[in-house]
Amino acid sequence: MESIKQLNTFGIDCQAEHLHEIAHQDDFRKLTSNRDRLFILGGGSNVLFVDEVTPDILLVNNKGISYVEQGDHVLVTAQAGIIWHELVVNTLEQGFSGLENLALIPGKVGAAPIQNIGAYGVELRDRFVSLTAYHFESKSFVEFKPSECQFGYRDSFFKTDEGREYCIWDVTLKLDKIFRPTLSYSGLTDLANHKNISANLVFETVCHLRRSKLPDPAVTGNAGSFFKNPVVNIAQYDRLKHEFPRVVAYPFENNWKLAAGWLIEQAGLKGYRQGDAGIHDKQALVLVNHANASGRQLVEMAKYAQASVLEKFAVKLEPEVNLISAKGRVNLDDI
Ligand code: FAD
Ligand code: EPU
Repeated sequence: MESIKQLNTFGIDCQAEHLHEIAHQDDFRKLTSNRDRLFILGGGSNVLFVDEVTPDILLVNNKGISYVEQGDHVLVTAQAGIIWHELVVNTLEQGFSGLENLALIPGKVGAAPIQNIGAYGVELRDRFVSLTAYHFESKSFVEFKPSECQFGYRDSFFKTDEGREYCIWDVTLKLDKIFRPTLSYSGLTDLANHKNISANLVFETVCHLRRSKLPDPAVTGNAGSFFKNPVVNIAQYDRLKHEFPRVVAYPFENNWKLAAGWLIEQAGLKGYRQGDAGIHDKQALVLVNHANASGRQLVEMAKYAQASVLEKFAVKLEPEVNLISAKGRVNLDDI
């Protein structure tokens, strides 16, 4: 048994019977655990281990980065084991922009396509060209183009049962040599008037904003937003707006996306705490482990937040975070 407390940003103290580490394509053939007993773990920043024991763990530790220039653009291919933020820094140091809004998102490159990571007005899919993934069943490597990945808000093909049969090996993104800022997100809009706007300035601003709101997992265990922002139709939105005129919502693909942090805060739970499991006092969408909360205690906190929001607003929050029991993936409703 090996403790993986240091391998998940919630800091849940749990044990894995087998921990496999691979860095070369050939290593897949040497795996002794069956696929159905194996959980692929990146930086553990979007996972809540629910039990004291986990499935067998697969860590993908390949770490190359390569660039190919294409006119005004450059293609960067980063292997799954690279830390995402280190890739962002590396691209900016080379003089290539496009990832600056996605600074400081924890985790590794291999997980970035899984939920199509996004922040401050940019999503991975905006820069995505292709990825290579290992298919456990056919024991071969397959290339995926954008349409095959079915990217959506915090979603992709790799979150389907079929998609879970792949292990992402590397990801190729298209970046710019000439800076084109994306400043639509509140907190960045003021930069449009800045005389010397640069990718590095956007990077610094995003880092500053994130540090001011989100807890640092090295200090307080958390996995970022615990729930997705719920998308509701126009009729549901009109009902909410009528009853709660201050509801925070954004137009989204002919529907409305609600700010789940606002819903949880209005349910009275910002800063709420039960033992070591809590809700962050600066951002109510983030569940926190103040010290030694168990996975089950955090599950109870998540259920409490979900039930409180459902009761007050008749809106059901769905977890963004992956819930992993001793047997594998589970739904919040089934725990
Ligand atoms: P893990 O948590 O280890 O795994 C996540 C999922 O990906 C699991 O299902 C796992 O099995 C799968 N997976 C991992 N690697 C592979 C692979 N190589 N092949 C196949 N499947 C794989 N997310 C955002 O989108 N935007 C944010 O702004 C954001 N902010 C955050 C802030 C904080 C403080 C924290 C703690 C988290 C935040 N997150 C955010 C969530 C998280 O950082 C991302 O989801 C990240 O992509 C997870 O990467 P990871 O390597 O830690 O993946
Ligand atoms: N709000 C509150 N109270 C709170 C938190 C938020 O009222 O406690 C309201 C505020 O009005 C605020 C609005 O909600 O303006 C939006 O909050 P914020 O800008 O912090 O963004 P978010 O919707 O809570 C999303 C992503 C984050 C991402 C940020 C920035 C989801 C589930 N979360 O959060 O991603 O970093 O936008 O783009 O989409 C993650 O996925 O783990 C994550 C951190």
